Amino acid sequence: MTKEQRYIELLPQIEAVTGTETDRVANMANIAALLHCEFGFWWTGFYVVSADRLQVVGEKELVLGPFQGPVACTRIRKGRGVCGTSWQRKETVIVPDVHRFEGHIACSSESNSEIVVPVIKDDDVVAVLDIDSKEFDTFDQTDKKYLERVAQMLGGIWQ
Ligand code: SME
Repeated sequence: MTKEQRYIELLPQIEAVTGTETDRVANMANIAALLHCEFGFWWTGFYVVSADRLQVVGEKELVLGPFQGPVACTRIRKGRGVCGTSWQRKETVIVPDVHRFEGHIACSSESNSEIVVPVIKDDDVVAVLDIDSKEFDTFDQTDKKYLERVAQMLGGIWQ
């Protein structure tokens, strides 16, 4: 089965598990599990835009949400790392080789490539979907296309 066929089969499953659930944590958890188990990524999860940065009122930052994989860093500031860059630019960031990405935050030394997709609600980024691979150059326009659909689905039911 091609990667595209796998995504095409996965999307209705994601719709099915999130369609009747309103809790964002439950939905992020199941989306991370479905993607992670289907593709065997190294790390699959979410960072959620928090109300306030730790001890700095009024400044938002990303906080670790539901994920599958090894322990990860818990907080990321806007514009930092791949996740903070995707949040700031409001667009998907594909990194074929994380060692060549200026400012990459290495939560795991085993990670070699990465994709981060923003989850947008009412024109604001509310979270990012972050996926890491142990292989170089894992993610392409097919991943971007379907992961953006997943993010759009989540953004549409985010409350
Ligand atoms: N590499 C990410 C940090 C999160 S971990 O990959 C789970 C980044 O540079 O933002």
